[in-house]
Amino acid sequence: MNLNTTYLGLTLAHPFMVGASPLADHLDTVKRLEDGGAAAIVLRSLFEEQITMAESARIHQMDPLDPEFAKALAEFPRPEKYPLAPDDYLEHVRRVKDAVRVPVIASLNGMTSESWARFATSIEQAGADALELNIYEMATDADDSAMAIESRIRDLVKDLKASIRMPIAVKLGPFFTAFGHVAHQLERAGADGLVLFNRFYEPDIDVQNMTCVPRLEFSTSAELLLRLRWLAALHARLRCSLAVTGGVATPVDGIKSILAGAHAVQLVSAILRHGPPYFSAMREGLARWMESKAFSAIEEVRGRIDGRTAGEDLFERANYIRTLQSWTA
Ligand SMILES: Cc1cc2nc3c(=O)[nH]c(=O)nc-3n(C[C@H](O)[C@H](O)[C@H](O)COP(=O)(O)O)c2cc1C
Repeated sequence: MNLNTTYLGLTLAHPFMVGASPLADHLDTVKRLEDGGAAAIVLRSLFEEQITMAESARIHQMDPLDPEFAKALAEFPRPEKYPLAPDDYLEHVRRVKDAVRVPVIASLNGMTSESWARFATSIEQAGADALELNIYEMATDADDSAMAIESRIRDLVKDLKASIRMPIAVKLGPFFTAFGHVAHQLERAGADGLVLFNRFYEPDIDVQNMTCVPRLEFSTSAELLLRLRWLAALHARLRCSLAVTGGVATPVDGIKSILAGAHAVQLVSAILRHGPPYFSAMREGLARWMESKAFSAIEEVRGRIDGRTAGEDLFERANYIRTLQSWTA
C-alpha cells in the first residue's frame, strides 16, 4: 500500500500532518508528533504585528505609544506576551528541523504587503522546508474593494516568490466573492499550494455585560463540508497542491478530503483532543479503507469526487435545486 503524497513538492509518507498551532511549540511534543505518525508539521504563526513591532516599533504603520492610535492598537498583545519573538521563532525553526525527519513548515500570518514579509528570507535561511502564508483578511473596511484586496494578496505572493526559493502555501478564508478566480490568480502568482480554509474565531456576545466574548472552540466534522465542496470544485482546475484545514475529526473525514482532491490533510483540533497517536489512527483508517476498495496508491483515490462537470455552474445549480426540492414536510 503506497500512501505517499506530494505536497508543495515535498514527499510525505501519507497525507496527515499537523496544522499551524501551539502543538509544535515544544521539542518534546514535536518528537511525540513525529512518533505518533505525523507526516509533516506546520509551526504556529509568527504575526505581522510582531515583526513590524520588532523592526520599527509600529503596528500597521502606527505607533502604539502615540495617543492618536493608542485606542486602535490597545487590543494587540504586547510583544512579550507572544510565546515566540521573531528571533526566537527562527531559533525554533532550526531546533525543530534538527529534532525531526518529517518536513517542517513555518507560518507567517498577516494582512498587508508591508516589509514584514521579508522575514520569510530569514525563515528560509533557518531551514524551513516551506512557508505557509496565512492571509487574515476580514474585509470590513467599506473603502476596500474586493479587487483591491485580491490584488494585494496576489502581489504579496508574487513578491515573496521573487525573494525566496522555498515553496509557499497560502492559507485563506472562504469569504471571497469568486473563490475560483482568487485560487487561479494565486496559482499564477506562484503559490505552490492553497490551504482551505482559515477558521475565524467568531466572538460571542455576553448579554448580561453587553460585551464581546472571545471564543475558541475545537472544530467538528460539520465544518469540513464547505472545504470538501471547494476541493472538489477546484482540484482538477489547479496544478498547485491543495491542503485541507478545518473539521477533519475522524479517519473518514480524512478519506473524504482525499477523495475531494486534497494532497495533504491538516489536523489541529483532533490532535488536541486525542493526542499525537491519532495520526497513526488516521493513517491506518485510510489504509484499511483503501484495502477494502482494492486501491494500492493515494493517487488512485485523490480527486475521485469531481465537482467539475461539463455544465459546471449548471451542475451546481441543478444539485442545489434537487436538494431543496427533496425536502418534504
Ligand atoms: C489553539 C489554536 C491555535 C492556532 N494557531 C494558529 C496559528 O498560529 N496559525 C494559523 O494559521 N492557524 C492557527 N490555528 C488554526 C489551525 O491551524 C486550523 O486551521 C484550525 O484549527 C482548523 O483546523 P482543525 O479543525 O483541525 O482544528 C490555531 C488553532 C487552534 C485551535
